[in-house]
Amino acid sequence: MQRANSHARCRGAGAGYTHRVHVLGIESSCDETGVALVCWQGDESVRLLAHGLYSQVEMHDAYGGVVPELASRDHIRRVLPLARQVLADAGRRLADVDLVAYTRGPGLAGALLVGAGVGCALAASLDKPVLGVHHLEGHLLSPFLSTDPPRFPFVALLVSGGHTQLMKVQGVGQYVLLGETIDDAAGEAFDKSAKLLGLGYPGGAALAQLAQQGDPRAFALPRPLLHSGDLDFSFAGLKTAVLTQVRKLGASPSPQQRADLAASTQAAIVDVLVRKSMRALRDSGLSCLVVAGGVGANVQLRQQLDAACAEAGVRVHYPELHLCSDNGAMIALAAAMRVQAGRTKPERSLTFDVKPRWALDSIG
Ligand code: KG4
Ligand code: ZN
Repeated sequence: MQRANSHARCRGAGAGYTHRVHVLGIESSCDETGVALVCWQGDESVRLLAHGLYSQVEMHDAYGGVVPELASRDHIRRVLPLARQVLADAGRRLADVDLVAYTRGPGLAGALLVGAGVGCALAASLDKPVLGVHHLEGHLLSPFLSTDPPRFPFVALLVSGGHTQLMKVQGVGQYVLLGETIDDAAGEAFDKSAKLLGLGYPGGAALAQLAQQGDPRAFALPRPLLHSGDLDFSFAGLKTAVLTQVRKLGASPSPQQRADLAASTQAAIVDVLVRKSMRALRDSGLSCLVVAGGVGANVQLRQQLDAACAEAGVRVHYPELHLCSDNGAMIALAAAMRVQAGRTKPERSLTFDVKPRWALDSIG
């Protein structure tokens, strides 16, 4: 549980609210239960008051991946205690909440239903409006809670376990898809390669750690679609190439061989992400890049993007490290920024739906 004082410097009219507005955000799209409370007043920036996160990673690790039914059941167990804790940490009461936001999609249907159900029930009991938020919009706007927030317009590189997309972002709710993966996501490529290296699930961070001792040039791995001329990605072939190398190394590879393969895999993924991001910036003529999603925590990716952007005269922004992975703060923030920007008018509702598949560029 954390107290927080980060703030988003996106200003807006506040959609008619005259008092300090408190938004409770609930994230439950996959294997993390996240709850957060943000607030703003008038022309003020959105501030994160407190947030809490419960990760189910250990539970799913035993199965080598997320088990949807177990995920839903665990969200049910965690969400209300987390909400209580967040309100206590923020020094607020449930009655102070003006708007409840929840992740409407994309994600696991059952897991989403838990957050949506709890969010709507809470809002109904308080006689307050409720808002379903796009998970990727949350990721995309999360750098607005950092100490170095971006300014619109920018190119966004969204790199999570389920998505790899380049977006042109003109403002809140103004998203144009520039390119995306045609098969595995970057996080999936990290996770599947990590699994082949015996690093458990999700293995992105573990692979990055092992890679620190390795030589990124030791194995010549493919950079799929690097020269495709467009902004799409493909990572399925990389996983197959890693599998081939693992088989070649046999039953007991040396620690150095494993580290070299981890480093070479990471280098291949990072190389493609960096080069396509720079191409997106060139093609769109924009000079600001925002990186979001779990893979955005990767140190090599950050270092290489920093270097490439410095050379190109581009400013690059990341979420705070603890807000890279799924969390409730980004959901509360996205709801607040949508309301501020006049993109959405939250309403009282006794019904809800979820959207397990939902394209970000389809929302307005
Ligand atoms: O955004 P996120 O928390 O969840 C989704 O919406 O998918 O992203 C999770 C992904 C996983 O694939 C995880 O392995 C990856 O982010 N990840 C990393 C690192 N930390 C998390 N990948 C590479 N390096 C890291 N340090
Ligand atoms: Zn996510």
